[in-house]
Amino acid sequence: MEAALYDPEWGFYARGGRAGRRGDFITSAEVGPLFGAVVARALDRWWQESGSPRPFVVVEAGAGVGTLARSVLAAAPACSAALRYVLVERSAALRAEHERGLPSVLPVHAFAASNEPEDDDEVVSPVPDGPFTVSLEALPPPGSAHVVLANELLDNLPTRLLERTAQGWAEVFVGEHLEQVLLPTMVEPTIDVAPGARVAWQEAAAQWLRAALETGRRVVVLDYMTTTADMGMRPWREWLRTYRGHERGADVLTDLGSQDITCEVALDQLAAVLEPMRVSDQRSFLIEHGIDELVAEGRAVWERGAATGDLAAMRGRSRVREAEALTDLDGLGAFTVAEWVR
Ligand SMILES: C[S@@+](CC[C@H](N)C(=O)[O-])C[C@H]1O[C@@H](n2cnc3c(N)ncnc32)[C@H](O)[C@@H]1O
Repeated sequence: MEAALYDPEWGFYARGGRAGRRGDFITSAEVGPLFGAVVARALDRWWQESGSPRPFVVVEAGAGVGTLARSVLAAAPACSAALRYVLVERSAALRAEHERGLPSVLPVHAFAASNEPEDDDEVVSPVPDGPFTVSLEALPPPGSAHVVLANELLDNLPTRLLERTAQGWAEVFVGEHLEQVLLPTMVEPTIDVAPGARVAWQEAAAQWLRAALETGRRVVVLDYMTTTADMGMRPWREWLRTYRGHERGADVLTDLGSQDITCEVALDQLAAVLEPMRVSDQRSFLIEHGIDELVAEGRAVWERGAATGDLAAMRGRSRVREAEALTDLDGLGAFTVAEWVR
């Protein structure tokens, strides 16, 4: 999974793989600007709850080409002037898109201290009005952010794969000829499943969460989640999937680098790092942060401008459709939103 997705030359993301209508899979951010508009409202609430700090540093991890960042900024949240929005993206090919339409700044400004003078004699240069964005390859230093947000990142992190055998647990490795090889393992998931059952052991996701909790005070993860026990009861190819051109792809060990590989995220394995403060589904999260109000505004704009069919009216109408897709409990609306606050 590591090589197939992230090899700098042959990996899926180096060879043009991406989210989006013209890409390989659709994410909430790529459905349209409404998701970002709701995230902008959530950011405002978290900003106000933490005393309206300035700067307000938000890290979006696994930012892809920067679509969510563009929608958040376009929504002009109240925290805009304070906002330092850090896009963290591992793929250089996708990072190269971050400058398109985003107000960039050198990283040093993103982490500039607050302009509240600590001591009366000290002259502190004012923090310039944002919003600014910064593009990084990896998470910024510990303690540098207020919020760390990740949409559909953890399902894309390489996972280990375990199989229950008659003798106990074994780990599935990939052999020289791309065959599956079972080897003994020290990892012992505490679930009771029949021999032949497999589970993902998502060490990289747990490590990412540990790092994110060091980076930011609030960590919010949106993804398709399940539990280790649930994985053990289902066919493994159902929760470890491939995608290409919006279709389910081939077996994970074929067409390496030309299809996305994604694994449902075991929430219990994340909770073992730290119990989340809140867990909800995406539909409830979006409603809590005002999606219905944004849709009502859109509908009103559409009704006023329907006769002329102007651009604002069309955008208003598309909000209704976007909301349906984002809150659909048979689709994106059923995704899990897990929040940790330190
Ligand atoms: C499924 S895509 C989601 C993109 C975007 N968040 C969205 O919702 O459209 C996952 C992205 O995470 C990136 N990624 C994977 N591992 C990463 C890491 N350790 N740090 C930052 N980005 C990473 C991938 O390159 C890819 O662009």
